[in-house]
Amino acid sequence: MPAFTAVAPAKIILFGEHAVVYGMPAIAVPVPVLQARVIIRADVHGEHGSVHLTAPAIALDSELLELNPNHPLRKAVELTAQYLHAAYIPACQITIHSTIPVAAGMGSGAAVSVALMRALAAYLGHPLSPEILSELAYEVEKIHHGNPSGIDNTVIALEQAVYFVRGQPAQPIQICQPFQLVIADSGISSSTAQVVAEVRAAWQTNPNQYETFFKQIAQISTNARRLLESVSKTEPIQPAFLQELGLLMSENQALLVDLGVSCLEIDRLVQAALNSGAYGAKLSGGGKGGNMIALVDDESREAVCLTLKEAGAGRVIVTTIGRRKDNLHR
Ligand code: PMV
Repeated sequence: MPAFTAVAPAKIILFGEHAVVYGMPAIAVPVPVLQARVIIRADVHGEHGSVHLTAPAIALDSELLELNPNHPLRKAVELTAQYLHAAYIPACQITIHSTIPVAAGMGSGAAVSVALMRALAAYLGHPLSPEILSELAYEVEKIHHGNPSGIDNTVIALEQAVYFVRGQPAQPIQICQPFQLVIADSGISSSTAQVVAEVRAAWQTNPNQYETFFKQIAQISTNARRLLESVSKTEPIQPAFLQELGLLMSENQALLVDLGVSCLEIDRLVQAALNSGAYGAKLSGGGKGGNMIALVDDESREAVCLTLKEAGAGRVIVTTIGRRKDNLHR
């Protein structure tokens, strides 16, 4: 029986998290070394409409209709079927795998939604464009996050570095020369919805101060975009570029600390990365745990990875930003 398989990458936010919720620009990039993968097999003996879902990593083994109507996986399936005007889904078995850590600021929920919707649309005979997948996945993001900016579903569905402003079409960024990031997990799981709500409460108490922070972060995202787009297609990356990009990352981290979304463990990892030669470092995503990122080159990479592990990081991975998206294992 043919199987329909679809994948979607993890993501990190390079610049602008939290401020993006308030209409400021942010920059996010896909991280294809981590991915969600969904396999759909037709069940020729099953009744029409019988959809069985398994997700071994979260011990889920259930009929679709036995899930709560607001369950993100059920919502993803139903939104796709509705969008395609499918009267019913031919009986099938859906299996979901993901190597993306959950509640770690890497877009695991959005990646599962996009991979699931992509596989289901193919199974139903109507593949969907990245833009439509992003719009549908945004509806599921609302269940996960309450008030999401939409950056996660956008960068994950487009599989492309984006400069993102809430409510506007995403603007792809061409990264002409690849550069390397270390992504280190603080080991602390954190609810983005909760941290976003805390920032909202703080903004309501102190709007002038928080709006100043948001504007300063916006300026960093704008400068970072200009810098990323200034890289020559033909010349290798220059140290001055890495120094400038790293400085912007560290400035962004200082403002995230001011917003109150960092934490001791992240601060320790950021400092460890800088002490061992990273050009810049910051948290990525909702904060108060999750992952941090550090900008490195061939010389500093090993030392930064080692130091981060010594400083208590869990999973430490190196990823290359700006490489062609064919490193997504389809
Ligand atoms: O924690 P993540 O990976 O879902 O990233 C959240 C980014 C925020 O800006 C904090 C929230 C949002 O909706 O943009």
